[in-house]
Amino acid sequence: MKLYRLQGDNRVDGMALCEEDTPRPKRGQVLVRMRAVSLNYRDLMIAVGRYRLGAEQIKNIVPVSDGAGEVAEIGEDVDRFKVGDRVVNAFVPGLITGQSRPDSLPRLRGAPHDGVLSEYALFEQDDLVTLPPGLSFEDGACMPCAGVTAWNALYCGPKPLLPGQAALVLGTGGVSIFALQLGHAGGAGVIMTSSSDEKLARVQALGAWQGVNYKTHPEWQEEVKRLTAGRGVDVTVENGGPGTLSRSVAATRFGGSVGMIGVLVQGQINPIEVMHQGIILRSILSGSRDMLEDTIRAYDFHKLHPVIDKVFPFAEATAAYHHLEGAAHVGKVVIALD
Ligand SMILES: NC(=O)c1ccc[n+]([C@@H]2O[C@H](COP(=O)([O-])OP(=O)(O)OC[C@H]3O[C@@H](n4cnc5c(N)ncnc54)[C@H](OP(=O)(O)O)[C@@H]3O)[C@@H](O)[C@H]2O)c1
Repeated sequence: MKLYRLQGDNRVDGMALCEEDTPRPKRGQVLVRMRAVSLNYRDLMIAVGRYRLGAEQIKNIVPVSDGAGEVAEIGEDVDRFKVGDRVVNAFVPGLITGQSRPDSLPRLRGAPHDGVLSEYALFEQDDLVTLPPGLSFEDGACMPCAGVTAWNALYCGPKPLLPGQAALVLGTGGVSIFALQLGHAGGAGVIMTSSSDEKLARVQALGAWQGVNYKTHPEWQEEVKRLTAGRGVDVTVENGGPGTLSRSVAATRFGGSVGMIGVLVQGQINPIEVMHQGIILRSILSGSRDMLEDTIRAYDFHKLHPVIDKVFPFAEATAAYHHLEGAAHVGKVVIALD
């Protein structure tokens, strides 16, 4: 089988295309013929050496955490799947339900463990879920990290988003567009921020209630307050990071909830701002297999499809990384395998 391996040289272009024996599933394992994988910002950070792991832990790793495909072979005692089933892998191996645990990050695929940018990949049967017929392999490949993170931020905290409430979502990347689609489907008004008016027009066509350009409105939290008649939003999906958190807190209503997700923008925040707003500040580390099933069910039920900006062939995987790096995308970047 063909697969990519990182060389630990902090360069996307240093990724090596290799030929290796196809593995055989052991007891409880499932061999999946991968049909599509999707890139997350994390995959880019890993490839360019800006993730929290050192080069020695990344060297020779098969990149990319999220994918979908069909079951090619099952090991002894596998009872959840059969050959030919269409499946998606969960982002956090071993996390069946609830929030991430101390052992979640060390288990992740795409680093420190081998990922799915490979013609075949092995999974424990408990780390896979069924992909319904209404969703394509490309659709399914987008769900594990980005979809589950958005679902968790909106619906799995102590104060879930309700119909008629307002949500604020930063940027128009993978997680953000999932948050838009899921928030809109749940009956909330979703306010999106972006660096680009063109992207804001696109997200409004996808159902965003309002858009705010954070370049032309550097004090964009004021715009968000204005759009919500001074009240602020009920839930914020904070994809920016420390550099945007202070404004996100200011844009959220007293007692509202801010899901801390992103690490895009460096900066600082004074915790007193959080206290004075009575904010529930919740860190989100993606989520569980149950949340993946809930996310997929919501897309299937509402006949939604993840927004895929561009699909690259397997042979052009490095170009897909560069496309994500360029940040001109809206939604997800996918790599398809024949
Ligand atoms: N905690 C978790 O479990 C978890 C899970 C998934 C992702 N993440 C993190 O969430 C972030 C987004 O991930 P992703 O995969 O969705 O990335 P992505 O698809 O690469 O999206 C990046 C987008 O972020 C927006 N952005 C950049 N700077 C911004 C700023 N100052 N204010 C607002 N938006 C800004 C840009 O949108 P515009 O071009 O529209 O401005 C950009 O296109 C990353 O930091 C990632 O590491 C965390």
